[in-house]
This record gives sequence, structure tokens and C-alpha cells, in this order.
Amino acid sequence: MQLAGKVTVITGSGSGFGEGTAKACAIEGASVVVSDINEDGGRRVTDEITAAGGTASFCKANVTDSGETQALIDHARAAFGRLDILVNNAGVGHKRKSMLEVTEAEFDHIFAVNVKGIYHTANAAIPVMREQGSGVIINIASTGAVSPRPGLTWYNTSKGAVTTLTKSMAIELAPDKIRVNALNPVAGDTPLLPTFLGEDTPENREAFRATIPLGRLSTPADVAAGVVFLASDAASLITGVCLEIDGGRCI
Ligand SMILES: NC(=O)c1ccc[n+]([C@@H]2O[C@H](COP(=O)([O-])OP(=O)(O)OC[C@H]3O[C@@H](n4cnc5c(N)ncnc54)[C@H](O)[C@@H]3O)[C@@H](O)[C@H]2O)c1
Repeated sequence: MQLAGKVTVITGSGSGFGEGTAKACAIEGASVVVSDINEDGGRRVTDEITAAGGTASFCKANVTDSGETQALIDHARAAFGRLDILVNNAGVGHKRKSMLEVTEAEFDHIFAVNVKGIYHTANAAIPVMREQGSGVIINIASTGAVSPRPGLTWYNTSKGAVTTLTKSMAIELAPDKIRVNALNPVAGDTPLLPTFLGEDTPENREAFRATIPLGRLSTPADVAAGVVFLASDAASLITGVCLEIDGGRCI
């Protein structure tokens, strides 16, 4: 087991990539704090992990709220005694459309969740990791940060911020033995995908798939495998990396 005894917090883990990551971390021996604003989804994932023999606890937290992110990290320590791994996975998009049609409210919400959410979790988690003398932070960015598609400009831009903050955090936190890495998944068939497609039609799905050299969309299992590796001691010299999980799309 690659994460035996590690305490892991995963934001937005009530569905999609976060759900797959929470389940994979539990299978690898981690104690998992499942967190989401979607309480039904988060509790379902938590129950499924424990029913399968894993260790998990649910904490409802909105990453746009500093009080709730602090309570999330406090929950991890109260439930499992420490914090080893933080996965900043919670994210939202805007419907695929001209950049001039994205409203100010949509823009603000995307940056509040995708970027400022990481500011809040970092402020809560880093003091704990510093005190412990180790920690791993993994941010879920996107291929949109590296090879943007049209119609998703402000979402892509928020993910560009995530890759930059990943590298900046990695260099700033290296003296504390806190590793910070990101994953850049290509389009995956999660509840978020229809947002990126604009209209969820077979033709639009095929248009996305056709841009991926290995010929398929990403899955929660693909993303989870990247998280487990980067969180594990096998990656102990890896920090500041933004790893594409993209079937070659960004080549
Ligand atoms: N699906 C894709 O095509 C794709 C591609 C690249 C990157 N991503 C990124 O992967 C991550 C996971 O997305 P997904 O595709 O699994 O979508 P998803 O919608 O299934 O999961 C996102 C989760 O985040 C939660 N969430 C939303 N706002 C929140 C908030 N303010 N506080 C806490 N939780 C909140 C949602 O309730 C949801 O459960 C996101 O950061 C997304 O941008 C997705």
C-alpha cells in the first residue's frame, strides 16, 4: 500500500475526479477526509469507502470560505491526528462560450473556487505541515492551462493560475519539506464535462475525443493514479511538476 497511515484531505470529492481519488487513496491505505459542498455526494463517497473496508470521514466545506477551510483542516486533525496530503480538487467551469459572454459573476465564482480556494486551504494546511516537518499538496489544474481550447478562456486562465501557484508554492515550501505538484487532466467524463462541451452532443464529445492522440477521454481512475503516485514516497524528490494526464493532447 503506497499511502499507508497517511491522512489525506480531498476537496470536491463528492463526485468525479475527487471521488475516484478519495477511493484510490483509501485503497492505498490512507485515512481520507472526503469534503464537498455537495453533502449527499460527499456522504455517499464516505459511506462507500467505509463499506469497502477503508477509513474515511466526511466534512462539508466550501473552499471559498476561509472559516470552512480552516474547519476542514481542523476536522482532519481531530479525526485522524495529523495531515499528510492535501488534494485541491474542487473546481468549477463556465459553459463553453465566447469570452465576451462570460459574466462578471461567473468570472468571480470561477476564480473564487479554482484559485482563491487554494489560497484558503493553503493558509489552513501549511502551518500544520510545517509543524509536522512534511506534507504533500496536489492541485488539480487542467490541460486548459497548457493547451487552451477556445470558448473556455476564463476557466483556462484560472487553471493557468493553478499551475503557476503550484510552482511558486513548491519553491517557497521546499525548505519545509512540503512538496507541491499539479495534475493537468484532459477532458474527462465527469459531471463537469457538459459545461466544457457547450452542448452535450455525441458530435461535441467526438470532437473532444478526436484531439486526444491516445483516443479517449480521461477517467477518475487516471487522475487518481497520478495523485497516488505524486503523494507517495516514490515521488519524494518530485516537486513543482505539472503532470499531464492527457493521452498526449499537449504534445
Ligand atoms: N472533467 C474534466 O473534463 C476536467 C478536466 C480537467 C480538469 N478538471 C478539474 O478537475 C477537478 C474536478 O472536476 P470534475 O471533473 O471531477 O467535476 P465534478 O463536478 O464532478 O467535481 C467537482 C466537485 O467540486 C465540488 N465543488 C464545487 N464548488 C465547490 C466549492 N466551492 N467548495 C467545495 N467543493 C466544491 C462539486 O460539488 C463537485 O463535487 C476540477 O478542479 C476541474 O476543474 C476537470
